[in-house]
Amino acid sequence: MSVTEINSPAATTRLSAAFRAPTAGSPPIWLMRQAGRYLPEYRATRAEAGSFLDLCYNPRLAVEVALQPLRRFDLDAAILFSDILVIPDGLGQPLRFEEGVGPVLMRLEDTADVARLSLERMRAHLEPVYETVSRLRAELPRAVSLIGFSGAPWTVATYMLEGRGSREFHLAKYWAYARPEDFRVLVDLLVEATVSHLSAQVDAGADVLQLFDTWAGVFDDRGFAAWVEDPIRRIVARLKARYPQVPVIVFARGAGARLAGLAQRLGADGLGLDPTVPLAWARETVQPETTVQGNLDPAILRIGGEAMERAIDDILAAWRGGRFIFNLGHGILPDTPPQHVAALVRRVRGEA
Ligand code: CP3
Repeated sequence: MSVTEINSPAATTRLSAAFRAPTAGSPPIWLMRQAGRYLPEYRATRAEAGSFLDLCYNPRLAVEVALQPLRRFDLDAAILFSDILVIPDGLGQPLRFEEGVGPVLMRLEDTADVARLSLERMRAHLEPVYETVSRLRAELPRAVSLIGFSGAPWTVATYMLEGRGSREFHLAKYWAYARPEDFRVLVDLLVEATVSHLSAQVDAGADVLQLFDTWAGVFDDRGFAAWVEDPIRRIVARLKARYPQVPVIVFARGAGARLAGLAQRLGADGLGLDPTVPLAWARETVQPETTVQGNLDPAILRIGGEAMERAIDDILAAWRGGRFIFNLGHGILPDTPPQHVAALVRRVRGEA
């Protein structure tokens, strides 16, 4: 082991070990959206901050909410408390979160709107996020990983082009299929923004990275190759050139059969699997190629009890013995009882 490896927290965590070799015994565990509304202490801190975005840009309070789940549960990682949409907000496309609607942005209509966005502005605007990362790293025990993250270009672009969450993605798909030259201008900017954002998080102390491509599952072959794989592959190559020791997990929700060979095509160290991915297929096809992360259905976590125990045991039985990080297949739902999360962590640890 080299000196840099010994000094980096990544060399010492259960999470980072899962990228190198099969975990002996129980797998490391963290949960997407582990900080959030299902915790009463989160709701209190958010009220103190004012709005969700004020919370994201307040390092003291963002550190507090990122640590809250670790005080309650025996988790192997903290994840930076932020959002994938701080990138458009930082670039100069102002964002607000409306109660009952979700994120709302003034949507981009043409490349002139794209040209008004600024990477310089983003770097300055997101300073509080990097401050949050470095304060978090200082607060966390060395055995706990700190996960930095970003949205992948396609998913972030959907919000920038639709102006809000979407079901059909008519506008974003129109750019992708009918205006590919224009769309490329936006995606290229997002590749630069993502590399910059993730690099700044590593420089501030993040030791594992995750890219969220929540809406990766809406494409045909051509669309997936051009607008999911190509931008992510470029981002990972740039990060690997600078930070070869920092593992990158890609969560391409809905990728289905395209998960086969995907880690190699992207250069990624791990793949997040959503709850619809068949366990046995993933064991035979994906796990020999990379570290699998997932994939308990958050709806089953919310239900708890025996249904949850069965689902957890199925995942453990299928993936134990290979490279494996236990997680949900998507984020925790806001009305999830915290006791269910405690029971999940105990069961994965083999304590219940
Ligand atoms: O604990 C963590 O996982 C870290 C923080 C985190 C948040 N969002 C906090 C958040 C992370 C990693 C995200 C990622 C994110 N944000 C994604 C990708 C993953 C996924 O869940 O699909 C997406 C698509 C977003 C965009 C986003 N942010 C939407 C659509 C919404 C509104 C829906 C909702 O759940 O309220 C958000 C808000 C948001 N991001 C909240 C949190 C804790 C809720 C804000 C609140 O009301 O307090």
